[in-house]
Amino acid sequence: MDNSQLDAVYKRSIEDPEGFWAKAAEDVQWDKKWDTVLDDSNKPFYRWFAGGKLNTCYNALDHHIEAGRGDQPALIYDSPVTGAIQQYTYSELRDQVAKLAGAIAAQGVTKGDRVIIYMPMIPQSVMAMLACARLGAIHSVVFGGFASKELATRIDDAKPKLILSASCGIEGKKTIPYKPLLDEAILLAGNKPKKCIVLQRPQVEAAMTAGRDVDWNEAVEMANPADCVPVEATAPLYILYTSGTTGVPKGVVRDNGGHAVAMKWSMKNIYDVKPGDVYWAASDIGWVVGHSYIIYAPLLAGCTTIVFEGKPVGTPDPGVFWRIIEQHKVKVLFTAPTAFRAIKREDPNGEHIAKYDLSDFKTLFLAGERCDPDTLNWAQEKLGVPVIDHWWQTETGWAIAANCVGLGMLPVKPGSPTKAVPGYHVRILDDAGHEVPTGKIGNIVVKLPLPPGCLPTLWNNDEGFKNSYLNEYPGHYMTADAGMRDEDGYLYIMARTDDIINVAGHRLSTGGMEEVLAAHQDVAECAVVGVADQLKGEIPVGFVVLKAGVDRPNEDIIKELIQMVRDKIGPVAAFKTAMIVKRLPKTRSGKILRGTMKKIADGVEYRAPATIDDPAILDEITESLSEIGFPKK
Ligand code: COA
Ligand code: AMP
Repeated sequence: MDNSQLDAVYKRSIEDPEGFWAKAAEDVQWDKKWDTVLDDSNKPFYRWFAGGKLNTCYNALDHHIEAGRGDQPALIYDSPVTGAIQQYTYSELRDQVAKLAGAIAAQGVTKGDRVIIYMPMIPQSVMAMLACARLGAIHSVVFGGFASKELATRIDDAKPKLILSASCGIEGKKTIPYKPLLDEAILLAGNKPKKCIVLQRPQVEAAMTAGRDVDWNEAVEMANPADCVPVEATAPLYILYTSGTTGVPKGVVRDNGGHAVAMKWSMKNIYDVKPGDVYWAASDIGWVVGHSYIIYAPLLAGCTTIVFEGKPVGTPDPGVFWRIIEQHKVKVLFTAPTAFRAIKREDPNGEHIAKYDLSDFKTLFLAGERCDPDTLNWAQEKLGVPVIDHWWQTETGWAIAANCVGLGMLPVKPGSPTKAVPGYHVRILDDAGHEVPTGKIGNIVVKLPLPPGCLPTLWNNDEGFKNSYLNEYPGHYMTADAGMRDEDGYLYIMARTDDIINVAGHRLSTGGMEEVLAAHQDVAECAVVGVADQLKGEIPVGFVVLKAGVDRPNEDIIKELIQMVRDKIGPVAAFKTAMIVKRLPKTRSGKILRGTMKKIADGVEYRAPATIDDPAILDEITESLSEIGFPKK
């Protein structure tokens, strides 16, 4: 028998969303209370807390100082790659953010202007985001593992007045200069920002462009601290670009009001943390997990957050997570299953775990990709704490399905992220839009309105928002995940229904990679599929057909293709395997059979679709894969 209040709370949230979220919103400090809890006057667009005004940075910093938490640590920077450990109290962080906001304002940035942040995992990156929020400016963080072209695409879409960057990132043992990538991106972009504020890190000195680049420390030194600017609850706090079904990323918009309400609610009810607790999301500020759970949610909730500049293994060893948990008294850790697979591979018996006192550690949360039961069971057994898989997306900004620990934990079923979270009316539909029976796989959708915190639209692209998410199942948001529900109401997330793959918890589009390969002079056609990988969950594998008459060595072409993906998308794509094949398997109507190719590469049973044009091609694909070490079935 469980004592969870989840079902009762869930029911209330679905039957009376306005009452439910109005109550939750009392936990946020408003400059002006909202006129309407949910403005549905322009369906299918919904706006939460319309008419309300607030400042997210005020709620995340100043409010806690006024409430007496000024001396509590707000942020701990732990960087095994540089040997630094630094702590900032709420007062110190607020003061530094206010000065940086002054420096940003001095470059002419005001409410509603966009600022791109291309930075590594250092406290200044967090300050940059909060400083934008303080001014009511809209930040757009671009992950450091993306190449210049990806950065340029985001610059062109967001049209930032200013870019904030640093001289380098540190990836394990490698130092990666960021400034040449930034310079190249600005060169490629049609819309050039007027100014860049660049932080010189001691490891690499960036060359500055006179008249455009401003030294971070000098700018901050000269600046006057800026106050919080109240903004509309419905005004964007940030834009975060994420992979879509083409090479063009989607600009997910997050508003200020709904976001603050959802973040605070989630900290109490999903993660079961309270002010003063130490909460660590081992992710990157470039991803949604970083936005929500390194920065905004823990600070809005008055917790201490950790900014970790390192990797789960190799910095220096697979014990680094446990060292940090002991040293900083971490209560909750949130990371991706891939991090645990990496640790388990190097420390299968948990010898590093045994070296540390983990008595403050209460719960491990995993997300970003499907958590395989093996990894979940290993973590649970070795750590002796509940391991909670939860499911969400960049678009939602917080969990759609979770074991809400703060509402009383439900039994964990490995392979399931448990049940729909309050606020999300999750349904599973067949292609015709009918609810599928229990235990049957279908398309997972969320009945509108989405709860606060989820994307209200795409940046400057209402039509794209409707086309991508709303048109397929009218009245619903399409998650593009397929899955099922069991007899206890537990959800199982099985696969994407589009071309998105998850590589080490990083979301990538195979369509985007195909666009890069297709641009090679010798390529006639190509397909990229996500193939199962023991460490990264999935890795991209490219199949390429050459144009007639090309007689260069295959190895040279493959090397060029791999380099092109690295240069155009970035190292994060982890595109390292490609092969030249004579033909691609297709249906008679010409559709490439990517699903069948994936099954062959994964070494699982497959049946050639009845519509296949020429089944013999599947044998050729099997042969090509086995030549480079893939299993033959
Ligand atoms: N800046 C520049 N380059 C970056 C980068 C960044 N912020 N992040 C990753 N890269 C590069 C890496 O150096 C690597 O380059 P390489 O091909 O030259 O080796 C490449 O991008 C792939 O990186 P990654 O997928 O992280 O692989 P990895 O082998 O370096 O590490 C893991 C594997 C599992 C240890 C690592 O992915 C990890 O810690 N994952 C944690 C999960 C996570 O953060 N998920 C985010 C969502 S919760
Ligand atoms: P991102 O937008 O990068 O957070 O990626 C979102 C996608 O990752 C989802 O649509 C899922 O396909 C996948 N995903 C995230 N968390 C989980 C999970 N807990 N279980 C299964 N898939 C997940």
